[in-house]
Amino acid sequence: MTAPDRFLLAGVMGWPVMHSRSPLIHNHWFAKHQLAGTYVPLAIRPDGLAAALRALPALGFAGCNVTIPHKQAAMDIVDEVHESARAIGAISCITVRPDGTLLGSNNDAFGFIRNLRQQQPGWRADSGPVVVIGAGGGSRAVCYGLLQQGVPEIRLVNRTPGRAEAVALALGGGIRAVAWADREAALDGAVLVVNTTSQGMVGQGDLDLPLGRLPATAIAADIVYIPLETSFLAAARARGNATVSGLGMLLHQGPLAWKLWFGIEPEVTAELQALVERSL
Ligand code: ATR
Repeated sequence: MTAPDRFLLAGVMGWPVMHSRSPLIHNHWFAKHQLAGTYVPLAIRPDGLAAALRALPALGFAGCNVTIPHKQAAMDIVDEVHESARAIGAISCITVRPDGTLLGSNNDAFGFIRNLRQQQPGWRADSGPVVVIGAGGGSRAVCYGLLQQGVPEIRLVNRTPGRAEAVALALGGGIRAVAWADREAALDGAVLVVNTTSQGMVGQGDLDLPLGRLPATAIAADIVYIPLETSFLAAARARGNATVSGLGMLLHQGPLAWKLWFGIEPEVTAELQALVERSL
C-alpha cells in the first residue's frame, strides 16, 4: 500500500483547526517510519465541508480526521457510516476507499479503551459498575467503548437528566441515567469513574464531584487533557486511587486511523507522549 512513488496524505478538518495536536502526532510517525508523506491541518468552514470531503479522493488523500464542528455533519456526507460512528452519533475519521468512496468511522471509543488498558492493565470490563459523568459527545464514545468491552452496568450522571436518558436510549445495554444530585452515592461500589464533561479543562470550573464514597481500589479516568492532570484526577490520586489521564485517548486513535489509511500500525511510545505533552 505504501509504494515509494506515492506521497502519503492525510489531515484533520476543523474550524478552527490550528490548535489541533494531530499534525504533531501523525508527522512524528511519518518521520519514524521514514515515509514520504504529510498530515496537514485543514481549516474548513462548515459550509465547505461537503466539497472538502468530496475532494479528498481527487487530491490523493488516504483520509482525514474530522473535529469540531464537523463531527455530526460529516455523517450526512460520507458514503458509508461505520457502526461505531452510527452508535456514537459522530464521525472522527474518514477513509478514502480504493473506489473513491468515503467511509466514516469513530475512533474515539477505541482510543479511550486502548488508553485505559495501557495505563491500567489490571482493569477488567466485567469487574463491576462504571460511573460516567457527562452525557455529551465524549460520553457517548466512552459509554459505547465500555459496553463493547462487556461492562455490565454504567451509571450515567449528567447535570441535564434528559441528555443522560437519551444516551441510555441510544446505546441500550446496561446504562442507567442517574440524577446529578445522586452523583456521590453513585460512586458506591464502582470500579471505574470517568469524567467526560468539560469541567476541569483549562478555563473551566473544576468538576464538582466529592470522592468520599469512591472505593479505594477504583480507577479514576478523565478525557480532558489540558491540563494533563485535572483537579478531579489530582483529588483521586491524593486519596490513593489509580488514575488515567486523557491525552492517551487522543494518541491511541492514531494507530487505528493509520491502519485504515496506510495499512500500518504505528506505536504510541513514551517519546511521542512526551513530544505532545511539551506542546500543551
Ligand atoms: P462533548 O461533545 O465534548 O462531550 P458537550 O456535548 O458540550 O461536549 O457536553 C459537555 C458535557 O459537560 C455535558 O454532559 C454537560 O452537561 P449538560 O448536558 O448538563 O450541559 C457537561 N457540563 C458542562 N458544564 C458543566 C457544569 N458546569 N457542571 C456539570 N456538567 C457540565
